[in-house]
Amino acid sequence: GGAESAAPRRRPFSRVTADDLVFFRGVLPGRVITDPDVLESCNVDWLKTVKGNSEVLLRPKTTDEVSQILRYCNARNLAVCPQGGNTGLVGGSVPVFDEIILSTALLNRVLAFDTISGILTCQAGCVLESLSEYADKQDFVMPLDLGAKGSCHIGGNVSTNAGGLRLLRYGSLRGTVLGLEVVLADGRVLNLLASLRKDNTGFDLKQLFIGSEGTLGVVTAVTILCPRKPRSINVAFLGCSSFQNLLKTFHMCRGMLGEILSAFEFLDASCMSLLENHLKLTNPISESPFYIVIETAGSNSAHDEEKLHNFLDKVMTSSLVTDGTVATEEAKIKALWSLRERVTEALRHDGYTYKYDISLPVEKIYDLVTDMKEHLGSRAKNVVGYGHVGDGNLHLNVISPTKDVGLLAAIEPYVYEWAARCRGSISAEHGLGLKKRNFIYYSKVHAGSQRHPQPLQDPAR
Ligand code: FAD
Ligand code: MLT
Ligand code: ZN
Repeated sequence: GGAESAAPRRRPFSRVTADDLVFFRGVLPGRVITDPDVLESCNVDWLKTVKGNSEVLLRPKTTDEVSQILRYCNARNLAVCPQGGNTGLVGGSVPVFDEIILSTALLNRVLAFDTISGILTCQAGCVLESLSEYADKQDFVMPLDLGAKGSCHIGGNVSTNAGGLRLLRYGSLRGTVLGLEVVLADGRVLNLLASLRKDNTGFDLKQLFIGSEGTLGVVTAVTILCPRKPRSINVAFLGCSSFQNLLKTFHMCRGMLGEILSAFEFLDASCMSLLENHLKLTNPISESPFYIVIETAGSNSAHDEEKLHNFLDKVMTSSLVTDGTVATEEAKIKALWSLRERVTEALRHDGYTYKYDISLPVEKIYDLVTDMKEHLGSRAKNVVGYGHVGDGNLHLNVISPTKDVGLLAAIEPYVYEWAARCRGSISAEHGLGLKKRNFIYYSKVHAGSQRHPQPLQDPAR
């Protein structure tokens, strides 16, 4: 199992020749990169667990340039790997062999913004954080937010159907993305850039490209619906003595905060230790087995604060929550959010990370962590759980001092079988990439079959 055995064989694609480079330089003057130093970072993923050997990086600025490149590569039988911010966590953003890297980094212009509807149209390579800053100036926000916002591109977000920290409030990109422009593998441009809230005329083709991880084409532009910027934001950071109490807190939270609830996230005590040890962050409350980040976003601070305080009163007096702190001003809100957003970074400092991104019925999400700890015993350096409680999405991470094939064999397919038994998903929001592609059958059942079939063997093996 795992990324190692999942590695496919190189298929009979052509290799890049000097003539190909001449063609690319004609289309993209000064934007055909062959410098090994630049290529090195584009060949390795964020986790530094998957590495390719591409010798060419292309940086188009326009849809027409993307179209010319893909038409040519298709005719020449050259393999292409689309790359956004290269923050993907499943090894899909980097070449496996010598595929040409097609970067969206220079497709970074905002094309239109409607200040009445909040509909934004931009090129696919816009960095999520830049779009958030742009929207903020117009008194709007982006409907998605994730820890990788400083690097990830909106086209990468769409291509992975990224979830993130606001999904509970604004829903998935399948609802907020209103239109796409895509270049198909043969160079044809599919303009699906409608900026309408409603359109029931036939098939909704853009949905095929949301979450398809570059397999069907390159997304070159996105139209997305931005909500108005909330007037009032509060963040509470709470401690819980058990996961059972955390679930009860979640239930009460939805009831008492209702429409102003914008996030309900959690991390366990092991995550907190890693934040303290590797990133020197400080735990603002007393030590607990579990921590919760709750965010409210509304339009009236007095109303929101009253609701939040009633809720906090209730969970403290009923002992569901053992300690907590609340932030209303921006710097402290940011500091509290770091404790959740930076877990991924802390884990990377701790060793080789085996990452699992599982959807389960919410009441079961931490059972998997507890069971995995028992199952692995001392073979793992660390087994941690965190994630999006509001979405039933657990991030289970197992850390080892170095890459450990024996440990991997103990985790996989055990973890996938666990998810399949609960009818969960083996990839809630990160996608399949290279690492999970052979395990899709634990989540997707064949038509006509009532059972979860065995995963298919990689035909390339
Ligand atoms: P890349 O990593 O460059 O690419 C991802 C995949 O999409 C690849 O298969 C690539 O080929 C394809 N692709 C990229 N751009 C295009 C395009 N224009 N057209 C076609 N295909 C394309 N993910 C979540 O869902 N929720 C989170 O909360 C979250 N938090 C994260 C926090 C950190 C610190 C990190 C490092 C990652 C996190 N991720 C999260 C994972 C990752 O950031 C997302 O998957 C993100 O959407 C990837 O965007 P990207 O631009 O970096 O894409
Ligand atoms: C998160 O929610 O922090 C991201 O999905 C990244 C991760 O899983 O580590
Ligand atoms: Zn996540």
